[in-house]
Order: sequence, then structure tokens, then C-alpha cells
Amino acid sequence: MAKNFYITTPIYYPSGKPHMGHAYSSIVADIFARFKRLEGFNVLFLTGTDEHGQKIQKEAQKKNKDPKIFCDELSETFRSLTKTLNLSNDDFIRTTENRHHKSVIEIWNKLVSSGDIYLDKYSGWYSVSDEAFYDEDEIEDKNGKKISKSSGSLVEWVEEESYFFKLSAWSNKLSEFYKKNPNFILPESRKNEVVKFVEKGLKDLSISRTSFTWGIPVPKNKKHVIYVWLDALTNYISALNFPNTEDKKYKAFWPADVHIIGKDILRFHAVFWPAFLLAAKLPLPKRVFGHGWILSDDKKMSKSLGNILDPLEIIEKYGIDQLRYYLVKEVSLGNDGSISLENLKNCINNDLANNYGNLCQRVLSFIKKNCGNKIPYSTKLNDSDKTLLNNLKNSLPKLQNLMDNQNLNEYMKAVVGFSFEANKYFNDSEPWTVKKSDPERMNAILFTIVDQIKNISILLNPIIPNATNKVLAMINISNENIKIDNIKNEKTLNHKKELGELEILFNKIENDN
Ligand code: ME8
Ligand code: MG
Repeated sequence: MAKNFYITTPIYYPSGKPHMGHAYSSIVADIFARFKRLEGFNVLFLTGTDEHGQKIQKEAQKKNKDPKIFCDELSETFRSLTKTLNLSNDDFIRTTENRHHKSVIEIWNKLVSSGDIYLDKYSGWYSVSDEAFYDEDEIEDKNGKKISKSSGSLVEWVEEESYFFKLSAWSNKLSEFYKKNPNFILPESRKNEVVKFVEKGLKDLSISRTSFTWGIPVPKNKKHVIYVWLDALTNYISALNFPNTEDKKYKAFWPADVHIIGKDILRFHAVFWPAFLLAAKLPLPKRVFGHGWILSDDKKMSKSLGNILDPLEIIEKYGIDQLRYYLVKEVSLGNDGSISLENLKNCINNDLANNYGNLCQRVLSFIKKNCGNKIPYSTKLNDSDKTLLNNLKNSLPKLQNLMDNQNLNEYMKAVVGFSFEANKYFNDSEPWTVKKSDPERMNAILFTIVDQIKNISILLNPIIPNATNKVLAMINISNENIKIDNIKNEKTLNHKKELGELEILFNKIENDN
């Protein structure tokens, strides 16, 4: 069987500038995509922008712009963010593209022919900001205004003709599906919320709007535009050339392995999306992972609190690897987590500069000075050398399993631990003291530690691709050899070629910076 792997981020509303939350989801998804490539998988990693609906139409109006022109401009800032974040996405989809339009129309038609759509009237609460319908028990009063309890955004009363999707008919099928696929929704705590929500019984879902025009018109009734969430969710198959289910891409990559999303949009992905797919008789994705919220100094980032950490500013000042590393180290994926500039700086100094960076720097400069700039070869490893290497090698199945379950923090902890251990090993084995008296021993130590640097660098490569690529290039590991399989294999090291130019990997941050 072909080893294919399909992973997606949410497609973001280009209603404003991208922020740290967007960056977080994208970086996390990128790390998994890169890891699967290192395992030899044929990966498709998709991201993009969600451009229809009332929210975007309103934002465009505020700026006095045609919505398409407005989206063209803002979508570009999200596309350029993929470069700034060093994402390895294979595609970037916009819901205003023709390939997507075709796919949404097909889904709509399938739901019509399966008898899952009917025309009626919607009256109830709607949040434009969330593009979501809310029940009476999901809203509350605050300062004389009605807001959603879950998101805090304003809701307004809506009454209009609307097409409905018979979501109520799918409650049982969904519950069965969750039971049969216990890892469909992760993390576990989030899953329970969804299961309970569905077990209460689902109400039919309004899937068209008539009070504005910015969207994909309903076939045969142009008064309506298709509800933006039905439109948006379909992006995951539009990018695979759906409706052509015989297409190579569709066949290789659907169903998706994992949709990475934030917890705010779990219901859409874990309830509505599978229900649409069930009704359309299409396979369901294998997993939806709903990560937690990024907070700034323990509070939700907001303009009025002035605690917004802008990803672009941080990257400019501290570097992209630094931000990537910090976010996944600091925030436990699945839970809310607070970030701060202070902790970012500490993390850069302690983890990157003093630990991994220092390890590479001191070992490679030692070799440059003492070994003619070539990695010594040795067959005389003693027990402590072997233990160091074997600990890492033997933990590979566990590490791979952690990544397959999106347990990124345990993975990080283990890899950082190896780097710490390697530093200690180098200190304790003191190759400088045996340089004259026992050069063979010195060679064995250096052989061991460089192999370990190679292994740690491969494992850190999905997280900090720039720095690890530099290190691996210094020790003459070619790009195609950056693979998990080559961790088991000392032969990938080149002992004949001189090391590449040594570069500073991470600058320490001084306090006033
Ligand atoms: O909901 N912490 O788009 P959106 C962590 N277009 N992640 C955060 C975050 C935070 N503080 N803020 C946002 C939409 N996110 C729809 C999605 S998908 C078919 C359509 C991330 O621009 C998180 O992934 O509001 C969240 O789910 C997403 O951005 C919402 O982005
Ligand atoms: Mg949002």
C-alpha cells in the first residue's frame, strides 16, 4: 500500500491580519506534515482562506471594497505568512476559486438527491463573527447585549427563508461512528463534549442565507447563498479535485488523516462535516484534532488589552525557528496555554542556545580544531557510547507513536532530553583529556557524539527546520538523507569529507532585548 498522508489546517477568514492563533495551528500542522515526510510518507499538506459569508462581506463594506478584491488582498497576507512561518504546505486553497465552487455545488446536489435538504424558514440567533447559529440556551445577556456563551461574540436575531440539512436524522449514525472510531476526535476531553452534544439529539441545520449575496448561490434558487460552513468544509476535498473521485489525488489522499483545528470550530468539524459526508455517501476523515487556545500573559489576546503578540514582529526580531520551537514547547497541544515575551527569551537562551545550539557548536568546533575538520571513525565504542546511541534509537517506535497521536509535547520532551543527555555525555567523557594519551578513545567519543547530533537534528528537523538543516549540512548529511530511517544507520556519516562552515545557530537574547 502506498504510504500517503493528508493533513490540513483550518482555512482562515481573511477578515483581518493573520495573528498568533493562526500561526500556531499552521505551525503545528506543518510539524506533523514534515515528520511524516521524514518517515517516508507521501504527504499532502493543505492550508488556505475561507472567503465567503456575511463576516467577510461586512468587512469589505467597511473598507468600501468589492469583496473579491478585499479577499484577494487579505488572502495574499495569509499566503505570504506560509513563507514567513516556513510552512511546507503543498497547496493553498481559496474558496473563491473555481475548483472549489464546482466541488461545493456537487456536494449540495448530492445532499439534495439523497433527500437531506428541504426549504423552510429559520428564526433564531446568529453570530456573524462566528458564522454560527445558536440556540437560546447557548446565549446570554451581557451589558444589555446578547452574546454567545462559548465565544462571547454578539448574536443577532435572524428570520429568513432557508434551506435546511436534516442533521437530526444523522444523530445515531454519528454516535455509532464515534464509538467505532474512538480516536476520531482528539484530545479525549474534547471528544466527550462532542459525544454528549450529539447524544442529546441534533436539530436540523440551516444551510443557506438570503440576507446578503457574498457566497456560492444555491443551484436553481439564486435568492440563496450556501451557508459559509458547508462551503468552507468542502475545501478539504476540493483541493483533491473532487467531484472527480477517480482523480489520482482524491484516491490517494481522501479520507484525510487529520484535520488540525482550534477547539472553537470543533463542532463544525466533528459533527457537521461528518454528517454532510455521511449524507453524501463519502468517506469520513480519520481524525479531527482540536487544539487549545493561545493566551497572552494568561489572558485571551485582544487589542483592547494590548497584549497581542504579533507573529511577524516576533519572527523579525527573534527568528522563525525560535518562534516555532517556543510555541510547541510552551503550549501543551490540546490545552490552552499562555505565552509571553519573557518566556520566549528564556526558552531561546536555555533550550536553543545553551542546549542544542551549544552542543552542536562545541562538538563541531572541537573536531575542526583537533581532527582536521573531519568526523573521526571508530569501531571501538564502549558501553557508555553505546548506551547513549541506543537509548535514542530504541525509543524511535515510541516517538513515532507519539507523533501519530499528536502528542507533540511528549515528543519534544523526549528529544530535548536526548540533547541534554548528549551535552552531559560530552562533558563527562572529556575528549580533550585523552587527545594525546588515547586518541582512539577520543575518536570513539567524537564518532558517538556526532552520530547523536545527527539523530537529534533529524528528530528536531520538523520543529526547527532552518537550524537543523544547517547542522546537518555542516556534517555533510544531504537533504535526501534526512529521514527517520537514517537514525538507525551510522553509515550516513561521512568521515572523509571536511565539515562545512560552522555558523552560529541561535543568538542569545540579552535582557534588554
Ligand atoms: O474559524 N489560539 O477561521 P478563523 C489558538 N474560517 N488558535 C487560534 C486562536 C488562538 N487564540 N485564534 C484562532 C474560521 N486560532 C473558519 C475555519 S475551516 C473549514 C474554516 C486558530 O480565521 C484556530 O485553529 O476564525 C482556530 O480554529 C482558527 O484559527 C480559526 O480561524
Ligand atoms: Mg474565528
